[in-house]
Amino acid sequence: MPGHHIPEPFCWDETFRVFYETLDNQHRGLFRSIFELQKHSDDGDQLCVMVAVMTAHFLVEEIIMKHSHYSDLGAHKHAHDDFIKHIKGLHTPVPASELNFCKDWLVNHIKDIDFKYKKQLSSYS
Ligand SMILES: [Fe+2]
Ligand SMILES: [Fe+2]
Repeated sequence: MPGHHIPEPFCWDETFRVFYETLDNQHRGLFRSIFELQKHSDDGDQLCVMVAVMTAHFLVEEIIMKHSHYSDLGAHKHAHDDFIKHIKGLHTPVPASELNFCKDWLVNHIKDIDFKYKKQLSSYS
């Protein structure tokens, strides 16, 4: 399956909008964390920031899905957990192949997985 277009420079744009302001703002920050890590791939603090913002965002997203009784929560959380496990294993300097993996994962996760909850998160706006 061909993946979605990876923006270059790696920045959030309107095509990633899920129409929940908190989540869209967090997604914007996830793009920024990878963008900054690419600029400073030997900076351990920047790697920690990327892992931290991903972890925080996934928790928020999962809590909102849970409160909305969103039926696909289990599979969605599994995708988050797999990605977190992977990025927690990264070390500096983070190689370009891993940065590309992270970019690819984020773009395709938002557009293929997160997009499924559009208009489904009834308890939240
Ligand atoms: Fe997600
Ligand atoms: Fe997300």
